[in-house]
Amino acid sequence: MPLYSDNKNITLDYSNILQENIGSEHGIDRSILENDFRLKRAHTDLIINRKNEKMTFLDLPFDQNIKNDIQNYVDKNRNRFDYYVHLGIGGSALGPIALQSALRHQYFNMLSLDQRNGSPKILFLDNIDPETTNELLDVIDVDKTLFCVVTKSGGTAETLSSFLFFLSQVKEKVGSKYADHFVFITDPENGFLRRQAYSENIQSFAIPPSVGGRFSVFTPVGLLPAAFAGIDIDVLLSGAAAMVNRCKDSHLNPAFYFALINYLFYRSGKKTVVMMPYSDSLFHIADWFRQLWAESLGKKYNKNNELVENGPLPVNALGTTDQHSQVQLYMEGPNDKIYVFMETESHESTVLLNSPFSNSIDTEYLNGKTMNQLIHTEKTATELALTENQRPNMTFQFQSIDAYTIGQILQCLEIATVVASELFNINPFDQQGVEAGKIATYALMGKPGFEKEKNRIQKILEGKKRFTI
Ligand code: PA5
Repeated sequence: MPLYSDNKNITLDYSNILQENIGSEHGIDRSILENDFRLKRAHTDLIINRKNEKMTFLDLPFDQNIKNDIQNYVDKNRNRFDYYVHLGIGGSALGPIALQSALRHQYFNMLSLDQRNGSPKILFLDNIDPETTNELLDVIDVDKTLFCVVTKSGGTAETLSSFLFFLSQVKEKVGSKYADHFVFITDPENGFLRRQAYSENIQSFAIPPSVGGRFSVFTPVGLLPAAFAGIDIDVLLSGAAAMVNRCKDSHLNPAFYFALINYLFYRSGKKTVVMMPYSDSLFHIADWFRQLWAESLGKKYNKNNELVENGPLPVNALGTTDQHSQVQLYMEGPNDKIYVFMETESHESTVLLNSPFSNSIDTEYLNGKTMNQLIHTEKTATELALTENQRPNMTFQFQSIDAYTIGQILQCLEIATVVASELFNINPFDQQGVEAGKIATYALMGKPGFEKEKNRIQKILEGKKRFTI
């Protein structure tokens, strides 16, 4: 009998956040959850009436043009390159990385070309560490590499500096044919990268202007590397579309509940949410969620311009690995967090355990069992222990991890983020805090137009008293 529902819909098991399971001090009264009028209002405002113009990310799963353009481009270019290198940061990298790690072989780049079905090896560079950047040259052949440069604004310093570095490497190797080794994903009209795409005749794809970086996984940002890896982007998008439709049908859905549960606990002092998948392939979804939740909900002012300093803290963990690292703290440390597990009912592989040590009590109980049973049991055990300790926890349940369920969970968490922002009364689509850092970098690095800011910052740095030991 299946553990979960008998269709492919992901579900959210929220039993262990309720008073009936963890007691009245730390649990939520089910009737409050089920009757909260704010969810119905958020449903009408956000999903039905699209009160916010940035809700267009909900249309992406239904966009046949983007999908067809990407698939056509990939079909033509898949065999031309041995390596695909993705240069981007933040929302321009985390979604694509999450998709790759969820849906392709965990050792994909170590497989043979045949085992990869002709896909290039796929690598991501989302930092500007000089060692990592330089060392990439040791594992790729630049003249057999397609570099995908992704920046919505077209001007992010990290991404452009990686671009500059690899542009000169490519030019050195292939001379005037360098443009064939680049593809750009950026704003359809504005920014440095868009201008370069036109002037250098470089293949490019557009991120719709109203879709922000962290909501862009279903644009070319995520779809292009996914298609290169042989992931079925049609099925991925149909999973996302199914979640949008579920959320259109009613406010009683996993995304809305997830948002409300997080909101209610935040208000009662539990301000940290730990996302802990029991699956290596889902770990980077927790990492992607960390950015989505933090950048969207961490805000100084609310929509009425009142100082709120809002900010639930998303933390990622991995089951079972973090049972031997973080769980001691989760169990016995302050009861100021909520826990979100992710678990799949079925795995693609079954790992059978055979013990040759017939007299050993340390291994005999494992003999004849599967690793699949063990990981499921360990999740159940951790969940039980947290619940007995009155630590609120919930579980996203997958029947299997595939393009359809991954499409659903990503879309679910994006919708949950905007619903939570509605409950917190903050704007989820700006990121003044990130922009401030970008501006300071431009100023200190001497970008024209930032001279005044440079003087201001330099005065602060020069006047600073430093203490080191
Ligand atoms: O979600 C966001 O908007 C940010 O995290 C951006 O994705 C990140 O700052 C990178 O920006 P860009 O894509 O413009 O280079």
